[in-house]
Amino acid sequence: MSDKKSSAVASESLARRTERSNRNGQVVPEDCEHRATQPAARAVGAFIEVKNVWQTYGDQTVLERLNLSIAEGEFCALVGASGCGKSTFLRLLLGQERPSKGEILLGGKPLAGEPDASRGVVFQRYSVFPHLRVLDNVAIGLELPRSALLGRLFGSAKRAAREQAAEMLQKVGLGHALDKYPSQLSGGMQQRLAIAQALIMKPRVLLLDEPFGALDPGIRKDMHALLLELWRETGLTVFMVTHDLAEGFSLGTRLMVFDKTRNDPHAPNAFGARITYDIPLNEDRRATRAALDTLPAHLTDSLPTAQQGVRA
Ligand SMILES: Nc1ncnc2c1ncn2[C@@H]1O[C@H](COP(=O)(O)OP(=O)(O)O)[C@@H](O)[C@H]1O
Ligand SMILES: [Mg+2]
Repeated sequence: MSDKKSSAVASESLARRTERSNRNGQVVPEDCEHRATQPAARAVGAFIEVKNVWQTYGDQTVLERLNLSIAEGEFCALVGASGCGKSTFLRLLLGQERPSKGEILLGGKPLAGEPDASRGVVFQRYSVFPHLRVLDNVAIGLELPRSALLGRLFGSAKRAAREQAAEMLQKVGLGHALDKYPSQLSGGMQQRLAIAQALIMKPRVLLLDEPFGALDPGIRKDMHALLLELWRETGLTVFMVTHDLAEGFSLGTRLMVFDKTRNDPHAPNAFGARITYDIPLNEDRRATRAALDTLPAHLTDSLPTAQQGVRA
């Protein structure tokens, strides 16, 4: 299939998929300040449910009253000011921390008390093992859990793990770098490696914390294409924190804005952030956004930003 044709097919399947996820999963938190423009409906069989979740550290409330319902296969882009609790929310979804109050359900069941293979994560900066070659960095995910029971993997099991890892690396464009060490890779290549490492475990949910924040714009574009391709292929549910609103708009099926709505100057830690906007994104909105991006900066600078009202 030619590139052009395959990308046309891909964008058609994305459009279909976006429709589906909007139909099934588009639910606005009950107490979200700015509801989506389309009528909110209760998701039937929501994949992930966040129920009245609060997170506090000592006397600091970081997140408050989060209520969300996410259908399987959605791509949620999370934006908000630095320090407002986006990474904290990802840690809760990962199961690395438990909420101070409320609960998170995955497939109707409370989230396991610690991270497991159902959730994979990629951080902004290199979460790969510096002392392992590229192939081993990915194969180790398959080898470790089994070798804990059986001792080291030998023979055919080990070969199979390495073949699978090589296949995944091929998919993310690192097929030519299997024997390199991470320090020999560019930033973009290291993030490809981190993605391969997360996906080899076949998670159902992929958590991305500003994964492309440290990359050059051109490389970022390539990474967006790769991520969308993997997302379509796997049917993964994705949560991606980004500080780049355009990135959120172009990748997400849903854009969520985290913001603190209550502020007490005498007690700055008293209130946490909530999701103040929860916006379903479809192809039309993406196109509008893309058109806005081509306007000269002096015009767009005067338009409202995410905090004041997302241009959707
Ligand atoms: N483990 C922790 N203990 C204490 N405070 C924390 C902890 N994790 C995060 N925080 C605080 O929570 C707030 C939100 O942090 P974070 O989730 O990293 O924000 P964001 O990712 O939106 O920039 C910050 O004020 C941070 O200092
Ligand atoms: Mg963060």
